[in-house]
Amino acid sequence: MLSFRRKVSKSAQDGATKRAKIQKGRTLQKIIIDCDPGIDDAVAIFLALAARDDIEVLGITCVKGNVGLDKTYRNAQRICAAAGRLDIPVLRGIARPILAPADLAASVHGVDGLGDIDLPLPDDFPETKTHAVDFIRQQVEKYPGEVVVCAIGPLTNVAVALLFDPLLGEKLRSIVFMGGAAYCPGNMNDFAEFNFMVDPHAAEIVLQSGAQLVMFGLDVTQQTRIEELHLARLRQNGNVCSDIAERLLTAYAKGDQHLHDPCVVAWLIEPSIFSGTQSRVRIVTEPGPQFGRSMANIDPHGNCLVMTQVDQQRLFSILLSKLAQWP
Ligand code: RIB
Ligand code: CA
Repeated sequence: MLSFRRKVSKSAQDGATKRAKIQKGRTLQKIIIDCDPGIDDAVAIFLALAARDDIEVLGITCVKGNVGLDKTYRNAQRICAAAGRLDIPVLRGIARPILAPADLAASVHGVDGLGDIDLPLPDDFPETKTHAVDFIRQQVEKYPGEVVVCAIGPLTNVAVALLFDPLLGEKLRSIVFMGGAAYCPGNMNDFAEFNFMVDPHAAEIVLQSGAQLVMFGLDVTQQTRIEELHLARLRQNGNVCSDIAERLLTAYAKGDQHLHDPCVVAWLIEPSIFSGTQSRVRIVTEPGPQFGRSMANIDPHGNCLVMTQVDQQRLFSILLSKLAQWP
């Protein structure tokens, strides 16, 4: 690993933006979070923003998923405002799946998508007119080979960006995503997981894109369980984001005790707590009882690394400690 010798002028230090800063010899991972907040999306975003020594969030792109696009977009703004990060670009994406019916939603996140806890939305949140798909493509052109797309909702935005530029999969560093159920039953029926069932065609486009893919399906996310001791730790943290996370997870755990989306961000922070199997994965897009199913088989030359194990204790330790250090 090259040791970085950093010549930073006084002005650069004073004007230290959050972009491309070399900290303690480590290069920040540049990520775009594509999401459908959603309570577990919110916790994943808080974790990414708290992990300032590991991650630089270039922007948050929103997609229709748990709730409609207007709500996922405003919820992403609410989350950034709560985190004191009005500098993070929040972009509207696509409001419906590519081909699948547009009526699937997830009630576990409440009517507003954030547990109906009335998280405030400042009326001066800076609006960005750029479309999510254009933002993804622009950032990949700006940082060739560096951008990690961290997709934690249906893959509609990511798939359309790949359709616009078939070489995008080679230009970005990787697509790490929460979705699917490779070697286990789904959470919508025996076969399909929510994100993939909302937009199976998008999932198939991403899976066949040739990009470096890491899949956090129910195989691994359902090994996590939110317990009362985790909520108590969040209450003890005594900061705004931990308090909000505790309120959100208390509401969420009534319907789903699994911490799906934060697994993706935790892997970026500490990959060693996960293990997986290189696999060949494709999506059932034909109408029928298996619509949206992720069909997988183990293949060392497969298109996707499928995560299958997580050290749940270390996962929650990373989440709780990062949120405790909230700047
Ligand atoms: O199946 C879990 C996934 O669906 C998570 O991303 C959750 O936020 C919902 O979008
Ligand atoms: Ca989500």
